[in-house]
Amino acid sequence: MKWIATCPHETVVVLAAELSALGIHDQQVLHRGIAFDADLETAYRAHLVLRTASRIQRVVAEFSVEDMNALRAGLQKIAWPSFLRSHRPFTVTPALTDPHAQGLGEPAVIEAVVQSIQNAAFEKSAPRFDPEVDNPITIVLFIRNGTCVLGIDTAGRALHKRGWRLTGHPAVLKETLAAAILLLAGYTGQEPLLDPMCGSGTIAIEAAYIALHKAPLIHRGKDDFALEHLAGFDRPLWRRVSDQLRATKMNALPAPIYASDIRAEYVEVARASALRARVEKYLEFSAKPLQEWVPPAPTGLLVANLPYGERIGVGAINALYRDVGSVIKERFSNWRIALLVPNDAPIHLLTLKTRQEVTLMNGALAVKLLLV
Ligand SMILES: C[S@@+](CC[C@H](N)C(=O)[O-])C[C@H]1O[C@@H](n2cnc3c(N)ncnc32)[C@H](O)[C@@H]1O
Repeated sequence: MKWIATCPHETVVVLAAELSALGIHDQQVLHRGIAFDADLETAYRAHLVLRTASRIQRVVAEFSVEDMNALRAGLQKIAWPSFLRSHRPFTVTPALTDPHAQGLGEPAVIEAVVQSIQNAAFEKSAPRFDPEVDNPITIVLFIRNGTCVLGIDTAGRALHKRGWRLTGHPAVLKETLAAAILLLAGYTGQEPLLDPMCGSGTIAIEAAYIALHKAPLIHRGKDDFALEHLAGFDRPLWRRVSDQLRATKMNALPAPIYASDIRAEYVEVARASALRARVEKYLEFSAKPLQEWVPPAPTGLLVANLPYGERIGVGAINALYRDVGSVIKERFSNWRIALLVPNDAPIHLLTLKTRQEVTLMNGALAVKLLLV
């Protein structure tokens, strides 16, 4: 079976490594994702364990589309009843990525898919096209260079939605980005980790999951993944894979994880989120400024997502960057450092020598991961 896991372009290398760790070596790197072959069991595992994938889709057809007739002919060959269930509404998302594909027109492409599903021989009635319904099954058509790759989204809600996020912090990182930062920094859970600007705790919680070998999506509710609503869903196999993953979770951290923020109310959000993520008992929380931190161990990894200038003002941000730089140089010189900063941040004020800089996107904000 062919699948596509999507992710931001900048983190494809991390996703590729995650897939390799699952034993999936036959990978084809796409612009914003990776196509791979996997049997059902491996694919089920991928849905639960991939930390940096945004979505996953099952590829059900690939055909050439010189024009609308070719598109209709390709769609007609799809055995829709072996993928879709009658009672589950669906929507269609075309990605027409070059002028020729755009010439087909989005409404016409959607209409052709709807027609081919309505004409298919379902045992009961054909499923209903309804983009307005909550969480419909999404059929994705990626058309480029005269080829259509048609997939069915099997994730449902985006995979950064682990199920534990609470409101209460204005600048949270996506869980997938926090995991990518940790993996890019080479974190495996074997060394002490400190996030001294933890905000809602995203980095520390994802770090605990990595260190404990805990599957990031394991606490999603029953029927939460779109794949559970597709024809051919193998519930016993899904349960077996989930149970195996629960069994491989470790019961203690190999090295401590510290999460701290200058604002006590954010530390409380982090603690409550960690509780929902069922890792609170593994984390060590405190409320204090970064300026008061001394290394809690001789070596380790300090990771921080620094505040943005527009939130706290230029003068304050400049002073903070100077402080971060001097705390790191004076006290954490034996630690590895990973700092996520906006591209236009006053990085020179840190006066740190970076060994690598990785460009990333934090939502719409262009950011850099500075590895020291
Ligand atoms: C961009 S937010 C971190 C968000 C976090 N990564 C998350 O996902 O929720 C930056 C955090 O730095 C904290 N902060 C600002 N100045 C600080 C200081 N001097 N010491 C410690 N924390 C500070 C802020 O309270 C804020 O929560």
